Amino acid sequence: MENNNILVIGGAGYIGSHQVKDLLNNNFNVYVLDNLSTGHRKMIDSRASFIEGDIRDYDLLCKVMKENMINAVMHFAAFSIVPQSVEQPLKYFNNNVYGFEVLLEAMEECSVDKLIFSSTAATYGEHKQMPIDENYSTNPTNPYGESKLIMEKMVKWQANASNLKYVVLRYFNVAGAAFDSSVGELHDPETHLIPIVLECALHKREFVSIFGNDYDTEDGTCIRDYIHVVDLCDAHTKSLDYLMQGNKSDTFNLGYGHGFSVKQIIESTQRVTKKDIPIRYDERRAGDPAILIASSLKAQKALNWSPKYNNIDIIIETAYKFYRKNIEK
Ligand code: UFG
Repeated sequence: MENNNILVIGGAGYIGSHQVKDLLNNNFNVYVLDNLSTGHRKMIDSRASFIEGDIRDYDLLCKVMKENMINAVMHFAAFSIVPQSVEQPLKYFNNNVYGFEVLLEAMEECSVDKLIFSSTAATYGEHKQMPIDENYSTNPTNPYGESKLIMEKMVKWQANASNLKYVVLRYFNVAGAAFDSSVGELHDPETHLIPIVLECALHKREFVSIFGNDYDTEDGTCIRDYIHVVDLCDAHTKSLDYLMQGNKSDTFNLGYGHGFSVKQIIESTQRVTKKDIPIRYDERRAGDPAILIASSLKAQKALNWSPKYNNIDIIIETAYKFYRKNIEK
Protein backbone atom coordinates (compact mmCIF):
# COMPACT_ATOMS: atom_id res chain seq x y z
CA MET A 1 0.00 0.00 0.00
CA GLU A 2 1.30 3.46 -0.89
CA ASN A 3 0.88 6.58 1.22
CA ASN A 4 0.65 4.54 4.35
CA ASN A 5 3.27 6.05 6.66
CA ILE A 6 1.46 7.53 9.62
CA LEU A 7 2.98 9.61 12.41
CA VAL A 8 1.07 9.21 15.67
CA ILE A 9 2.05 11.95 18.10
CA GLY A 10 1.15 10.89 21.63
CA GLY A 11 1.03 7.22 20.64
CA ALA A 12 2.12 6.08 24.12
CA GLY A 13 -0.94 7.60 25.78
CA TYR A 14 -4.34 6.12 26.49
CA ILE A 15 -6.11 6.81 23.19
CA GLY A 16 -2.95 7.00 21.05
CA SER A 17 -1.81 3.51 22.06
CA HIS A 18 -5.15 2.01 20.98
CA GLN A 19 -4.97 3.97 17.72
CA VAL A 20 -1.47 2.65 16.96
CA LYS A 21 -2.82 -0.92 17.18
CA ASP A 22 -5.80 -0.14 15.00
CA LEU A 23 -3.57 1.39 12.30
CA LEU A 24 -1.13 -1.53 12.42
CA ASN A 25 -4.03 -3.96 12.13
CA ASN A 26 -5.11 -2.04 9.03
CA ASN A 27 -1.67 -2.41 7.42
CA PHE A 28 -0.35 1.10 7.98
CA ASN A 29 3.30 1.74 8.92
CA VAL A 30 3.22 3.54 12.24
CA TYR A 31 5.76 5.95 13.72
CA VAL A 32 5.11 7.05 17.29
CA LEU A 33 6.47 10.31 18.67
CA ASP A 34 5.87 10.77 22.39
CA ASN A 35 7.72 12.58 25.18
CA LEU A 36 6.49 10.00 27.73
CA SER A 37 5.35 12.79 30.07
CA THR A 38 2.03 11.05 30.64
CA GLY A 39 2.33 8.08 28.27
CA HIS A 40 4.01 4.72 28.86
CA ARG A 41 6.72 3.09 26.78
CA LYS A 42 5.20 -0.35 27.43
CA MET A 43 1.89 0.72 25.83
CA ILE A 44 3.48 1.18 22.38
CA ASP A 45 2.92 -1.83 20.14
CA SER A 46 6.29 -3.40 19.25
CA ARG A 47 5.40 -3.33 15.52
CA ALA A 48 5.53 0.50 15.58
CA SER A 49 8.73 2.59 15.41
CA PHE A 50 9.20 4.78 18.47
CA ILE A 51 10.90 8.18 18.65
CA GLU A 52 11.09 9.83 22.07
CA GLY A 53 10.53 13.56 21.70
CA ASP A 54 8.30 16.55 22.16
CA ILE A 55 5.74 18.08 19.81
CA ARG A 56 7.31 21.51 20.44
CA ASP A 57 10.63 20.32 18.90
CA TYR A 58 10.33 21.64 15.32
CA ASP A 59 13.65 20.20 14.10
CA LEU A 60 12.80 16.75 15.41
CA LEU A 61 9.33 16.83 13.84
CA CYS A 62 10.82 17.77 10.46
CA LYS A 63 13.49 15.08 10.73
CA VAL A 64 10.95 12.36 11.56
CA MET A 65 8.54 13.42 8.82
CA LYS A 66 11.23 13.64 6.13
CA GLU A 67 13.19 10.51 7.02
CA ASN A 68 10.09 8.36 7.16
CA MET A 69 8.19 9.93 4.27
CA ILE A 70 5.20 10.56 6.50
CA ASN A 71 1.88 10.91 4.64
CA ALA A 72 -0.46 11.80 7.49
CA VAL A 73 -0.34 12.82 11.13
CA MET A 74 -2.64 11.88 14.00
CA HIS A 75 -2.28 14.14 17.01
CA PHE A 76 -2.99 12.80 20.52
CA ALA A 77 -0.31 14.70 22.44
CA ALA A 78 -2.40 17.35 24.18
CA PHE A 79 -3.02 17.72 27.90
CA SER A 80 -6.65 16.84 28.60
CA ILE A 81 -7.57 17.05 32.28
CA VAL A 82 -10.35 19.57 32.82
CA PRO A 83 -9.74 20.42 36.54
CA GLN A 84 -5.97 20.67 36.00
CA SER A 85 -6.54 23.12 33.15
CA VAL A 86 -8.58 25.37 35.45
CA GLU A 87 -5.66 25.51 37.90
CA GLN A 88 -2.83 25.71 35.35
CA PRO A 89 -4.21 27.32 32.17
CA LEU A 90 -0.80 28.31 30.77
CA LYS A 91 0.40 24.72 30.88
CA TYR A 92 -2.49 23.95 28.52
CA PHE A 93 -1.92 26.88 26.20
CA ASN A 94 1.78 26.06 25.97
CA ASN A 95 1.60 22.35 25.19
CA ASN A 96 -1.71 22.32 23.34
CA VAL A 97 -1.77 25.60 21.41
CA TYR A 98 1.93 26.37 20.98
CA GLY A 99 2.73 22.68 20.39
CA PHE A 100 0.09 22.57 17.68
CA GLU A 101 1.46 25.67 15.99
CA VAL A 102 4.91 24.01 15.82
CA LEU A 103 3.33 20.86 14.38
CA LEU A 104 1.46 22.80 11.68
CA GLU A 105 4.67 24.63 10.72
CA ALA A 106 6.61 21.39 10.49
CA MET A 107 3.87 19.76 8.41
CA GLU A 108 3.94 22.68 5.99
CA GLU A 109 7.73 22.58 5.74
CA CYS A 110 7.65 18.82 5.00
CA SER A 111 4.59 18.92 2.70
CA VAL A 112 2.61 16.57 4.92
CA ASP A 113 -0.95 17.46 4.02
CA LYS A 114 -3.29 15.24 6.06
CA LEU A 115 -4.08 15.65 9.74
CA ILE A 116 -6.50 13.89 12.08
CA PHE A 117 -6.85 15.99 15.17
CA SER A 118 -8.39 15.12 18.56
CA SER A 119 -10.75 17.79 19.77
CA THR A 120 -13.37 17.56 22.47
CA ALA A 121 -16.95 18.04 23.58
CA ALA A 122 -15.48 20.55 26.02
CA THR A 123 -15.41 23.04 23.11
CA TYR A 124 -19.22 23.31 23.32
CA GLY A 125 -19.61 24.43 26.93
CA GLU A 126 -23.09 24.44 28.49
CA HIS A 127 -26.14 23.64 26.36
CA LYS A 128 -29.69 22.80 27.39
CA GLN A 129 -30.83 20.94 24.26
CA MET A 130 -29.33 17.48 23.80
CA PRO A 131 -27.90 15.82 21.75
CA ILE A 132 -25.28 18.33 20.63
CA ASP A 133 -24.54 18.40 16.92
CA GLU A 134 -21.63 20.05 15.17
CA ASN A 135 -23.62 23.24 14.47
CA TYR A 136 -24.07 24.06 18.16
CA SER A 137 -22.28 27.16 19.35
CA THR A 138 -18.90 26.75 21.03
CA ASN A 139 -18.33 28.44 24.35
CA PRO A 140 -15.92 26.42 26.51
CA THR A 141 -16.29 26.52 30.31
CA ASN A 142 -12.65 25.59 30.98
CA PRO A 143 -9.15 26.33 29.60
CA TYR A 144 -8.77 22.80 28.24
CA GLY A 145 -11.83 23.23 26.01
CA GLU A 146 -10.66 26.73 25.09
CA SER A 147 -7.22 25.45 24.07
CA LYS A 148 -8.83 22.85 21.77
CA LEU A 149 -11.16 25.43 20.25
CA ILE A 150 -8.17 27.66 19.46
CA MET A 151 -6.45 24.66 17.88
CA GLU A 152 -9.53 23.99 15.74
CA LYS A 153 -9.42 27.57 14.49
CA MET A 154 -5.69 27.35 13.79
CA VAL A 155 -6.08 24.25 11.63
CA LYS A 156 -9.00 25.78 9.76
CA TRP A 157 -7.04 28.90 8.81
CA GLN A 158 -3.89 26.97 7.97
CA ALA A 159 -5.91 24.66 5.68
CA ASN A 160 -7.41 27.74 4.09
CA ALA A 161 -3.92 28.99 3.26
CA SER A 162 -2.33 25.70 2.15
CA ASN A 163 -2.93 22.18 0.78
CA LEU A 164 -3.63 20.84 4.25
CA LYS A 165 -6.71 18.64 4.67
CA TYR A 166 -7.93 17.77 8.13
CA VAL A 167 -10.54 15.96 10.15
CA VAL A 168 -11.35 17.35 13.59
CA LEU A 169 -12.91 14.75 15.89
CA ARG A 170 -14.74 16.12 18.92
CA TYR A 171 -14.68 13.32 21.45
CA PHE A 172 -17.20 12.98 24.20
CA ASN A 173 -16.07 10.82 27.17
CA VAL A 174 -13.69 8.11 26.05
CA ALA A 175 -13.55 4.98 28.21
CA GLY A 176 -12.89 1.23 28.16
CA ALA A 177 -9.82 -0.69 27.03
CA ALA A 178 -8.65 -3.08 24.31
CA PHE A 179 -10.50 -6.41 24.41
CA ASP A 180 -7.23 -8.32 24.88
CA SER A 181 -6.27 -5.96 27.78
CA SER A 182 -2.96 -5.18 26.05
CA VAL A 183 -3.51 -1.41 26.37
CA GLY A 184 -5.76 0.74 28.54
CA GLU A 185 -5.99 3.92 30.58
CA LEU A 186 -3.19 4.50 33.12
CA HIS A 187 -2.96 8.01 34.50
CA ASP A 188 -1.09 9.20 37.55
CA PRO A 189 -2.82 10.86 39.28
CA GLU A 190 -6.11 9.49 37.93
CA THR A 191 -8.94 12.04 37.61
CA HIS A 192 -11.41 10.29 35.27
CA LEU A 193 -14.58 8.83 36.68
CA ILE A 194 -14.58 5.24 35.38
CA PRO A 195 -10.95 4.46 36.36
CA ILE A 196 -11.56 6.00 39.78
CA VAL A 197 -14.68 3.91 40.37
CA LEU A 198 -12.74 0.81 39.29
CA GLU A 199 -9.91 1.66 41.70
CA CYS A 200 -12.54 1.51 44.45
CA ALA A 201 -13.75 -1.85 43.20
CA LEU A 202 -10.14 -3.07 43.41
CA HIS A 203 -9.67 -1.59 46.91
CA LYS A 204 -7.01 0.89 45.74
CA ARG A 205 -9.20 3.76 46.90
CA GLU A 206 -11.68 3.94 49.77
CA PHE A 207 -14.59 5.79 48.15
CA VAL A 208 -15.70 7.77 45.09
CA SER A 209 -16.34 11.48 45.57
CA ILE A 210 -19.37 12.53 43.56
CA PHE A 211 -18.69 16.10 42.46
CA GLY A 212 -22.07 17.79 42.84
CA ASN A 213 -25.54 16.25 43.28
CA ASP A 214 -27.50 19.44 42.68
CA TYR A 215 -27.22 19.65 38.90
CA ASP A 216 -30.35 20.02 36.82
CA THR A 217 -30.42 16.32 35.88
CA GLU A 218 -32.69 13.46 36.95
CA ASP A 219 -30.52 12.28 39.87
CA GLY A 220 -28.65 15.58 40.33
CA THR A 221 -25.28 14.26 39.07
CA CYS A 222 -23.53 15.16 35.79
CA ILE A 223 -24.39 13.23 32.64
CA ARG A 224 -21.79 12.24 30.02
CA ASP A 225 -21.81 10.27 26.77
CA TYR A 226 -19.23 7.48 27.26
CA ILE A 227 -17.75 6.01 24.06
CA HIS A 228 -15.62 2.86 23.87
CA VAL A 229 -12.03 3.66 22.91
CA VAL A 230 -12.05 0.87 20.27
CA ASP A 231 -15.02 2.46 18.47
CA LEU A 232 -13.37 5.86 18.75
CA CYS A 233 -10.15 4.62 17.14
CA ASP A 234 -12.09 2.91 14.36
CA ALA A 235 -13.56 6.35 13.56
CA HIS A 236 -10.02 7.78 13.32
CA THR A 237 -8.88 5.11 10.87
CA LYS A 238 -12.02 5.75 8.83
CA SER A 239 -11.24 9.49 8.93
CA LEU A 240 -7.85 8.73 7.45
CA ASP A 241 -9.47 6.72 4.63
CA TYR A 242 -11.91 9.61 4.17
CA LEU A 243 -9.06 12.10 3.64
CA MET A 244 -7.08 9.68 1.48
CA GLN A 245 -10.11 9.35 -0.80
CA GLY A 246 -9.92 13.12 -1.35
CA ASN A 247 -12.90 14.20 0.75
CA LYS A 248 -13.15 17.68 2.21
CA SER A 249 -11.89 18.81 5.60
CA ASP A 250 -14.59 18.58 8.25
CA THR A 251 -15.46 18.35 11.96
CA PHE A 252 -17.28 15.40 13.53
CA ASN A 253 -18.60 14.53 16.97
CA LEU A 254 -17.83 11.07 18.35
CA GLY A 255 -20.21 9.68 20.96
CA TYR A 256 -23.16 7.32 21.17
CA GLY A 257 -26.05 9.78 21.53
CA HIS A 258 -27.09 8.91 25.06
CA GLY A 259 -25.69 9.68 28.46
CA PHE A 260 -25.13 8.19 31.91
CA SER A 261 -25.06 10.06 35.17
CA VAL A 262 -22.21 9.70 37.67
CA LYS A 263 -24.52 7.57 39.82
CA GLN A 264 -25.44 5.33 36.88
CA ILE A 265 -21.73 4.74 36.18
CA ILE A 266 -21.26 3.66 39.78
CA GLU A 267 -24.29 1.33 39.55
CA SER A 268 -23.03 -0.21 36.32
CA THR A 269 -19.60 -0.78 37.90
CA GLN A 270 -21.22 -2.51 40.87
CA ARG A 271 -23.15 -4.72 38.44
CA VAL A 272 -20.07 -5.62 36.37
CA THR A 273 -17.58 -6.10 39.21
CA LYS A 274 -20.05 -7.43 41.79
CA LYS A 275 -18.27 -5.19 44.32
CA ASP A 276 -19.72 -2.56 46.60
CA ILE A 277 -18.53 0.99 45.78
CA PRO A 278 -18.65 3.43 48.74
CA ILE A 279 -19.54 7.02 47.77
CA ARG A 280 -19.32 10.48 49.31
CA TYR A 281 -20.93 13.66 48.08
CA ASP A 282 -18.57 16.54 47.43
CA GLU A 283 -18.67 20.08 46.00
CA ARG A 284 -19.18 20.65 42.28
CA ARG A 285 -15.91 20.53 40.33
CA ALA A 286 -14.94 23.78 38.55
CA GLY A 287 -15.45 23.77 34.79
CA ASP A 288 -17.92 20.84 34.61
CA PRO A 289 -20.96 21.29 32.33
CA ALA A 290 -24.09 19.48 33.63
CA ILE A 291 -24.81 17.37 30.53
CA LEU A 292 -22.84 16.48 27.41
CA ILE A 293 -24.44 14.13 24.89
CA ALA A 294 -23.32 13.82 21.26
CA SER A 295 -25.16 13.54 18.05
CA SER A 296 -22.66 11.69 15.85
CA LEU A 297 -24.96 11.03 12.92
CA LYS A 298 -22.75 13.20 10.73
CA ALA A 299 -19.68 11.01 11.43
CA GLN A 300 -21.65 7.82 10.92
CA LYS A 301 -22.79 8.95 7.50
CA ALA A 302 -19.69 10.70 6.15
CA LEU A 303 -17.11 8.26 7.53
CA ASN A 304 -19.23 5.15 7.08
CA TRP A 305 -18.69 4.51 10.80
CA SER A 306 -20.95 2.24 12.81
CA PRO A 307 -20.05 1.96 16.48
CA LYS A 308 -20.05 -1.60 17.82
CA TYR A 309 -19.68 -1.36 21.59
CA ASN A 310 -22.46 0.98 22.56
CA ASN A 311 -23.03 -0.65 25.94
CA ILE A 312 -21.88 0.83 29.25
CA ASP A 313 -21.38 -2.56 30.88
CA ILE A 314 -19.04 -3.66 28.06
CA ILE A 315 -17.11 -0.40 28.38
CA ILE A 316 -16.68 -0.88 32.12
CA GLU A 317 -15.94 -4.60 31.81
CA THR A 318 -13.05 -4.06 29.36
CA ALA A 319 -11.60 -1.33 31.60
CA TYR A 320 -11.99 -3.61 34.64
CA LYS A 321 -10.16 -6.48 32.93
CA PHE A 322 -7.31 -4.11 32.04
CA TYR A 323 -7.01 -2.79 35.61
CA ARG A 324 -7.10 -6.26 37.11
CA LYS A 325 -4.15 -7.13 34.91
CA ASN A 326 -2.24 -3.89 35.53
CA ILE A 327 -2.99 -2.57 39.00
CA GLU A 328 -4.23 -5.55 41.00
CA LYS A 329 -1.16 -7.04 42.61
N1 UFG B 1 -16.51 12.85 38.56
C1 UFG B 1 -16.89 12.62 39.87
N2 UFG B 1 -15.94 12.09 40.71
C2 UFG B 1 -14.68 11.80 40.32
C3 UFG B 1 -14.32 12.03 38.97
C4 UFG B 1 -15.27 12.57 38.11
O1 UFG B 1 -18.03 12.89 40.29
O2 UFG B 1 -13.87 11.34 41.15
C5 UFG B 1 -17.53 13.39 37.63
C6 UFG B 1 -17.08 14.70 37.02
O3 UFG B 1 -17.42 15.78 37.87
C7 UFG B 1 -17.88 14.69 35.71
C8 UFG B 1 -17.96 13.20 35.34
O4 UFG B 1 -17.67 12.50 36.55
O5 UFG B 1 -19.16 15.15 35.93
C9 UFG B 1 -16.95 12.79 34.29
O6 UFG B 1 -15.67 13.30 34.69
P1 UFG B 1 -14.30 12.86 33.99
O7 UFG B 1 -13.21 13.55 34.75
O8 UFG B 1 -14.25 11.37 33.86
O9 UFG B 1 -14.42 13.43 32.52
P2 UFG B 1 -14.74 14.93 32.02
O10 UFG B 1 -16.17 14.95 31.57
O11 UFG B 1 -14.31 15.96 32.97
O12 UFG B 1 -13.73 15.08 30.81
C10 UFG B 1 -13.58 14.10 29.81
C11 UFG B 1 -12.20 14.21 29.24
C12 UFG B 1 -12.03 15.50 28.55
C13 UFG B 1 -13.13 15.73 27.56
C14 UFG B 1 -14.47 15.57 28.20
C15 UFG B 1 -15.55 15.69 27.17
O13 UFG B 1 -11.23 14.09 30.25
O14 UFG B 1 -10.79 15.48 27.89
O15 UFG B 1 -14.54 14.30 28.82
O16 UFG B 1 -16.80 15.44 27.73
F1 UFG B 1 -13.07 16.96 27.09
